[in-house]
Formats: sequence, C-alpha cells, structure tokens
Amino acid sequence: MRSLIDILDLTVEELDELVKTACDIIENPKKYSECCKGKKLATLFFEPSTRTRLSFEAAMLELGGSVIGFSDAKNTSASKGETIADTARVVSCYADIIAMRHPLEGAPYVASLNSEVPVINAGDGGHAHPTQTLADLVTIYREKGRFDNLTVGFCGDLKYGRPVHSLISALSRYTGIKIVLISPKELALPEYIKREVIEKNGIPYEENDNLETAIPDLDILYMTRIQEERFDDREQYERLKGCYILDPAKLENAKSDMIILHPLPRVDEITVAVDSDPRACYFKQVANGKNGRKALILKLLEEAEKNPNKCVDTRDTVSIERCPNQRCISNNERELMPKAVKNKDEEVLHCAYCETTV
Ligand code: NCD
Repeated sequence: MRSLIDILDLTVEELDELVKTACDIIENPKKYSECCKGKKLATLFFEPSTRTRLSFEAAMLELGGSVIGFSDAKNTSASKGETIADTARVVSCYADIIAMRHPLEGAPYVASLNSEVPVINAGDGGHAHPTQTLADLVTIYREKGRFDNLTVGFCGDLKYGRPVHSLISALSRYTGIKIVLISPKELALPEYIKREVIEKNGIPYEENDNLETAIPDLDILYMTRIQEERFDDREQYERLKGCYILDPAKLENAKSDMIILHPLPRVDEITVAVDSDPRACYFKQVANGKNGRKALILKLLEEAEKNPNKCVDTRDTVSIERCPNQRCISNNERELMPKAVKNKDEEVLHCAYCETTV
C-alpha cells in the first residue's frame, strides 16, 4: 500500500491523474457518492485546523464513507505519553485510512511506517502539506488550464509555511516554471528546498523582499500567513508580522489574469477589499481542496485493496547522531533512530524524517 507523506511520493502522471479525477468529481459528484461505502477515515489532528480536517471529513462523507477521529490531542492517549508509532498502529485497527496533522515534523511519516492502513500527511509542523498542494493544483488547473509556463510568486512566510514547500516541490517538475520568492531574509525558503528542489530541477528563481516590484511579472501570486505559532523568538514575530499586505492598490500593476491564492486562514496579509477582485481565488481553493482530497482517498484506498502490505521506506539511509531540527519527530519520540537520506554519490543529504540538512 501507499501513503502520502510528501507530494513527491506521487509521480507527475499520478498528480495529473488526481487533478483530472478531482475535476470529474466537481462535474459529476453523484457518480462518486457511494464509492467509499463501508470505509472509515480517521482524522488525527494534533494541531488546530478548520479547512483541512473538515474538508477531509466532508470528502469522506460525500464519498459514502464514515469518519472517526479527534481534533484535540489533549483528550487522547498522546497526553499519557503514547508514541506516534503506537497511536498509528492502534488507529489502523479501527479505520481504513488515516489523515494526520501534527506539530512535529516527520510525525505522519513515522505513523505511515507503523500503520496497517494508508496515512495522509495533513500538515507536519513547518515541513510539508501535500493535500494543500492538491487544492492548489486543482485551482491552478481550473483557472489557468495548465501547470507549465507559469511565473509563480510566493510571498510572506516561506520559512515555516508548509503549503509553500509542497507546492514548490510539485511545480518544479513542470516545464517553463519561474519562481519568485518574496520574503524578509528571516523568513526565506529553507536551503534544502532551494538546493534540492529548485536548483536541482534547473528552475530559474529570484529572491526579493518587495511585493510591489515583483507583482507585474506574476501569473500566480501565492500569499501566506506569517506562522506565529512556529517562531522561537517572539520579538522577531512582532517585528515581522504585517510585513506584506495585499490590497487593491498593489494589484493595479498585476496582470489582468494573474490569480491570487492563499491556503487560508488569513490574518491581515490580504485585505477584505481584494475578495471581490475576480483574480482572488482563495475561496475557490477551499472547495477544490475537498475534491482533491476525495480523489486522493479513492486512489489510496484502491491501491491498499490491491496491495495491503504495510508501507516501507525504500530510500537509501544512514544512521546519524542527531537531527539538528528541534521540531523533528526523531528528537521527540522514544526509540526512534535518527537517520539521513543519501544520494547516488553517497552524499548525506537530509534528515529522513523532516528533511533538514544534516
Ligand atoms: C495552512 C496550514 O495549516 O499549513 N492552512 C491550511 O491547511 N489551509 C496554512 C496556515 O495555517 O497558514
């Protein structure tokens, strides 16, 4: 069976197929309304969520399945010290598929190796958020009709904003993509993504801290919230909050067919006055996210039926002493062996759990 931990777990062809299925679900919802009859989704949310959890639940219900789960880990055995590995093993006795959100980076990956059913990463710390990428891609496809030849600007918190990391990984595999990274230096995109995703794929990119000067070239503007909950330094958050605010005046120099995306929730980075601009697509993204998740649930359940064997990690890894990232699951869960992934030249690249450069 297969889990979805990172968007790169899917090939480009599989991603395209999922987007097509999502579009078909949007056009013909009735056709899919019994597909998951008798199946259960468990939503294990160890971190706050509105859209992601409810859209997973709505998706499963609309596919004819049912839902169990929790949205507050305080009421679970995690508060008694149960490990992620054990929680996953236990929940997979009750459910056919699991969606997990966790503040520790790599937690859904650990769950996937211990679960008897597929695990979907619904956001792990500041690391990855592959199902938000499905929402983003379905929206891009429906609004722009293509994934190639696009100049995409990412603005705001590119350091901790996990939807940005996953979408950049996905887009880097298409042709004619240009990326513009707009952030203060302190919130720049992590090095491992620049090096191993953008540069490795030969994607032209620029870094810039000025939204006004970047905006005229963009086909897509992806705005993000400054991730208050991930800052170690409160004073730094206070200094950086509100650093980018998209308002109608800034949009005057944007292309007339540029689309504005945001994973939501927004704080103040897009003013309400922008909502009525036809280029604003962030509420469409919400609806598309539910349908992208439906397509994914269908795919993973179908695969699990054909191959019920547990997920295994086939990457080439090597033991390391410690991951430098405090928020990595390997530094927070008992009896987990820290390990790193190697490339073909035997070079040690990144932590196998959270991808931090080691
Ligand atoms: C995002 C997340 O949780 O990473 N929200 C979402 O899932 N739609 C973005 C955010 O919280 O800023």
